[in-house]
Amino acid sequence: MAIGVFDSGVGGLTVHRELTRRFPTRDFVYLADQANAPIGSKSGEAIVNITRDGCERLFEAGASVIVLACNTASAIALRRLQQTWVPQARARHGRPVNVLGIIVPTIEAATGLPWSFEAERAGSLDSDKREAIDITGVFCTAATAISRVYEIEIDKRREDLAVFSEPCPGLAGLIELGAPVEELSVVVADHVDALRRRIGRHPDKAILGCTHYEIVAELFAAALPQATTLIHQPSAVADALERYFDRHPEYELGTNQRRDFLTTGKPGPQSDMVSQFWGAPLSFDPA
Ligand code: DGL
Repeated sequence: MAIGVFDSGVGGLTVHRELTRRFPTRDFVYLADQANAPIGSKSGEAIVNITRDGCERLFEAGASVIVLACNTASAIALRRLQQTWVPQARARHGRPVNVLGIIVPTIEAATGLPWSFEAERAGSLDSDKREAIDITGVFCTAATAISRVYEIEIDKRREDLAVFSEPCPGLAGLIELGAPVEELSVVVADHVDALRRRIGRHPDKAILGCTHYEIVAELFAAALPQATTLIHQPSAVADALERYFDRHPEYELGTNQRRDFLTTGKPGPQSDMVSQFWGAPLSFDPA
């Protein structure tokens, strides 16, 4: 049995790479749903259906624990699937299976607090937040921004952090296609500037809240001032998965170092940008 990793495309490779570093002997199967990518501008219903079908494909391919290496799927679909579909999948497959998201570990990293912590609210600070406190910017897809998941969940835990999500529609699609770096750096700089104009200054911390953006993390770092700290999801997710496996020894996990990469889209070699990020050419098999 393997650890499954799901994304709409190549963005989840950023999480996969960190997970395989952390669990080098474990078996992994990666599914890129490139037939449906990008998903960040689709309806909630479509995102739930796409995520469910992707997870089912990964369970069929032998995954027992699936990491949704996709903020959009984690924000929109995860809770819905965990309520009824995952228990049904457990019964159908006759073995322990689960689906985990990447937003909880990211919020833990951004707040420095465990997910179980919820601050006692003395009152609303909303009107003061713009000036008074540390600002966290979240660059993400339209669907993640509309969900306001980062604003809501960070606000529950840290009254002193103001959160502003900046939707970057189109950016994941360009990264998926391996667009030239010159084009990507202009798009990234535009989004960084749009956030600065909206909040009146640059954020103190920035979350790359779409796994595709981690592939071009250095473009975000170049567009943001040096003083802005980037929060990287892959290491936060690997830390959380380590703790999860300590608490849940019930999953069967193979140790044959299996590395399968599946796509619902066009099989074969991925873009030069992916090879560069990966450090070697990477080819996907048909799902
Ligand atoms: N990589 C995904 C995310 O983290 C989705 C990008 C997309 O398909 O729009 O949100």
